[in-house]
Amino acid sequence: MSSKNLDFGSFAQDVMLGLSSHPKTLPSKYFYDEKGDKLFQEIMELPEYYLTRKELEIFENQHEEILKPILNLGQSFNLVELGAGDGLKTKIFLQYLIKEKADFEYFPIDFSATVLEELKGTLKTEFPGLTVSTIKDTYRGSLIKRDWENGKPNLILFLGSNLGNFSLEEAYDILNHLRIGANHQDFVLLGLDLKKNPQTILDAYHDSKGVTRSFNLNLLDRVNRELQGDINTENFIHWPTYEPVSGECRSYLVSMVEQTINLKALDQSFHLEAFEPIFTEISKKYSLTEIDDLAVKGGFRTVQSFTDKEHYFANILWQRI
Ligand code: AVI
Repeated sequence: MSSKNLDFGSFAQDVMLGLSSHPKTLPSKYFYDEKGDKLFQEIMELPEYYLTRKELEIFENQHEEILKPILNLGQSFNLVELGAGDGLKTKIFLQYLIKEKADFEYFPIDFSATVLEELKGTLKTEFPGLTVSTIKDTYRGSLIKRDWENGKPNLILFLGSNLGNFSLEEAYDILNHLRIGANHQDFVLLGLDLKKNPQTILDAYHDSKGVTRSFNLNLLDRVNRELQGDINTENFIHWPTYEPVSGECRSYLVSMVEQTINLKALDQSFHLEAFEPIFTEISKKYSLTEIDDLAVKGGFRTVQSFTDKEHYFANILWQRI
């Protein structure tokens, strides 16, 4: 493959751009290949990674309250989920909605085809009568195309602190897409990780088993696998940081030696100084006041906020104005 005619927005082009930038970057959306999907499943079960458990606690204890406004409409609706993953938490909603004999269709959206295939399989066995239409796309792509649009009201789920994987500026851009992608009166349920003891946050991204380290380093393995790279991953360390004012938890891969890496498929070499970082991921944490601000600036009205007992995580129900 010549470096001159790479597909725009492809893995190859993003790696090329990222490793030519200062500081160097590799986008976190590329964590999720087959190996990365498995590692993320493992992360969600780690004792330090509280996010999934806390959101699950909110859903288990408060699903009736959360779903009341959409059920009160008393009509058929669409349940749309941006970044559905394994659907673990959403299955609590599905179970309840089916029990309540609600008339709805489920549209899980994910960037990973493997994840969608697996989800479709488990839904078929667990909820045989459920109408499911999977959509393989990015958040922004799906919100522009709106493949679920059928004139019915929508409840759009954006869970798991997935919005946290964007800087504030990008988050506003996504919210703008969400506002345009939703109809007036549509509901959005957002799941965001809250600001808390910085040590608790840092531990969640620096687990004692080293799974998050492998997850981060898998980006380099993926570059090796897909772009015929010669990167020695042992020359890099996983380095998460947390900045409590911005709430930004940032992960890096730091080169511990001066080195040149060659990517044969791109016909390119990249030089790294000793201790030069590659920025790989942002996992932003918010306060409830900052989330209110997101709603106001994004064009939504807050219906109700739900948190777990320790106030670690929040699910906020918004309505499009
Ligand atoms: C998917 N996302 C919300 C996770 C997070 O917490 O930012 C991804 C992750 N990165 C490291 N651990 C988990």
